[in-house]
Amino acid sequence: MAELSLVSGSVGLITLQSPPVNALSAAVRRGIVDTMQRAVSDPKVRSVVICGQNGVFCGGADIREFGSTMTGPPLVPMIHAIEAADKPVVAAIEGSALGGGLELALGCHYRISHAKARLGLPEVTLGLLPAAGGSQRLPRLIGVPAALDLITTGRHVTAAEALKLGFVDQVTDQNTVEAAVQFALSVVGQSLESRRISSLPCPCPVDVDALFEGVMQRVRQSARGAIAPVACVQAVRAAATLPYAQGMQREQELMATLFTSGQARALQYCFFSQRAVSRWSMPSGARWDTCKPKPVTKAAVIGLGTMGRGITVALAQAGLSVVAVETQPQQLKAGQRAVSDMLERAAQRLGVPSAVQGVRYSQELQAVADAHLVIEAVFEDMALKEQLFKQLSSICKPDTLLCTNTSALDIDHLASQTHRPQQVVGMHFFAPAHVMKLLEVVYGPRSAPQAVATAMALGKRMGKVSVAVGNCRGFVGNRMLMPYVEEALFLLEEGATPETVDHALEEFGFPMGVFRMSDLSGLDVGWRVRKAAGLVEPGKMSRVRQGRRYSPLGDLLCEQGRFGQKTGQGWYLYETPGSREARPDPWLHSFLEEYRARQGLVSRRIDSQEVQERCLYALINEGFNILQESIAAGPEDIDMIYVFGYGWPRHRGGPMFYASQVGLPRVLQRLEHYQQLHPDVPHLQPSSLLWRLVSSGSPPIHRWREVIRKPHSAL
Ligand code: NAI
Repeated sequence: MAELSLVSGSVGLITLQSPPVNALSAAVRRGIVDTMQRAVSDPKVRSVVICGQNGVFCGGADIREFGSTMTGPPLVPMIHAIEAADKPVVAAIEGSALGGGLELALGCHYRISHAKARLGLPEVTLGLLPAAGGSQRLPRLIGVPAALDLITTGRHVTAAEALKLGFVDQVTDQNTVEAAVQFALSVVGQSLESRRISSLPCPCPVDVDALFEGVMQRVRQSARGAIAPVACVQAVRAAATLPYAQGMQREQELMATLFTSGQARALQYCFFSQRAVSRWSMPSGARWDTCKPKPVTKAAVIGLGTMGRGITVALAQAGLSVVAVETQPQQLKAGQRAVSDMLERAAQRLGVPSAVQGVRYSQELQAVADAHLVIEAVFEDMALKEQLFKQLSSICKPDTLLCTNTSALDIDHLASQTHRPQQVVGMHFFAPAHVMKLLEVVYGPRSAPQAVATAMALGKRMGKVSVAVGNCRGFVGNRMLMPYVEEALFLLEEGATPETVDHALEEFGFPMGVFRMSDLSGLDVGWRVRKAAGLVEPGKMSRVRQGRRYSPLGDLLCEQGRFGQKTGQGWYLYETPGSREARPDPWLHSFLEEYRARQGLVSRRIDSQEVQERCLYALINEGFNILQESIAAGPEDIDMIYVFGYGWPRHRGGPMFYASQVGLPRVLQRLEHYQQLHPDVPHLQPSSLLWRLVSSGSPPIHRWREVIRKPHSAL
């Protein structure tokens, strides 16, 4: 797990050996302790270089060990022993030095990095802090502001930035181990006093209190309830204000609180779930490891509106050649300008050549004839999409994949318009499509596994978190959103305001409550969908439609031309159309009062708990239905959709993980409670899967699949 060899006559070379990233497992830690002891006591060794096998220094702690009792030598004394050595120790950093890996390097006396290496302390993203001295050493080395930035965001930096910040001593684009060995030979005999970071004073700004107060305020605001970033600030503050030993003690105390918190568990669950969703499966048994994707180099996008533009950018940035087709000349011109601007700006930011040349534009559908894959992003109108799929079926080569970006329409129906239903899948992007990480890959009953594999592989190439889901109205994300939005409207009828509802949801951790979100995306979008579903009755106030409770509030606002931000009025008031700052609207408050009076509804006080329970449990309940119907393969798929596409706070793990943390019996009991109060609301009727899970003793989330698959009877 770590090997010691003598090189250049007097350098002890310790090589970490634990593929793929030389994580600091118990065996690796034992290896480091043993080889260090041998190197220090061997008179032939005059200096030491620590490096990692296979071009990676060290990826940090072994996260798989987090769940079990710690065995093997602990990290902190191991790093102290390296720092205390009386022979110079040099870290040779290739590939990455992350988390515990960087903390190990900070315990060394010198750090030499390859130019392409990435360094960082990403513990905060797993709900933790750098607790092997990282929070105490880094500020001593590079100062409080820079250390706060790296530790509270967890961002990775390049070797060049690390050199500039001062936590790397030399950057090389040659062989890093050789450079480190030469360096180690050159520093033999020099005093190590100033190289032991723990013994250095922390460079302190004049007004420490003011600095930390400001930082704490900012961090709390952006953390949206996550506790790890706050603990990171507290740990760095300890470095700035306490002697090293006491700072270390504080670091350990804070870590102990974080380590056992539900948030760290949620974030680690997200870490593993994000990887798990790429290992997709279909109810037919087709799986990621048995289907090979088809190579795709030429893609086409149809419709250059909001979504088509973002999709074109994402495809071009992934290195595909793209043809974008738009029938409206004005839209084509505006779309071309927008796509080129986005590509140019991204290229400038990343310092890479722009992909502008990779995109062609056309008004003719015929231009997509030689594409390997087509993504349709025209208006959400079934008749229009039917017509288009018929045309595509005859224009495109027989093996071309035909994809739709529809938000909710039936993929199988679209597939039936073509001669190749097996080649049709949904590729459901989220706005803005070149930024948002989520991609729902929707398969119908006739989609070929290879078509799913190809769409999933393309998603990965575009840097997306792609989740394969079955075909139903709204797929996974939008289907679960419907009861959430409906509950929010019912709460308005019963006495809440958009402000109280949004406040409760933002307090939970969403970046935006449901009403601010609707104002941003446009109230007319849902209005059109409800009209198509035959739910809208202009001017009518009836609260039961198609046999169930219905709130016409959204329709009434749209009838007044209040479409949200774009019209300057929606659930909130905006200074001018298009401006972003939502202000409470007195008109809306009296409109709600009048509405309740006309409906004979008695307004009551609604607290945050009720808002959160009704909106979130209704959404979660739909998630159980989706699992029951095998629309999603497992709870991780639903959770990643919500974390990456819908702003669900990551530190709460996603809706299904959250339900498991709240306790399934509690979720069931609250749904039953609300269902008794509102028997005309079907989405409050607890899902039969939730019942089955509870009666199976509420197993932990990783065992839900066993219950989902178990044959069951309604008797
Ligand atoms: P949009 O209205 O901004 O753009 C649609 C574009 O398609 C327009 O430029 C229109 O001129 C063009 N178009 C219409 N018929 C065409 C044809 N036969 N050939 C070529 N171009 C044609 O619509 P948006 O918002 O981009 O939505 C497109 C699709 O993406 C819809 O199915 C929508 O449900 C879905 N979607 C929208 C999201 C959003 O947030 N806007 C999110 C996810 C999916």
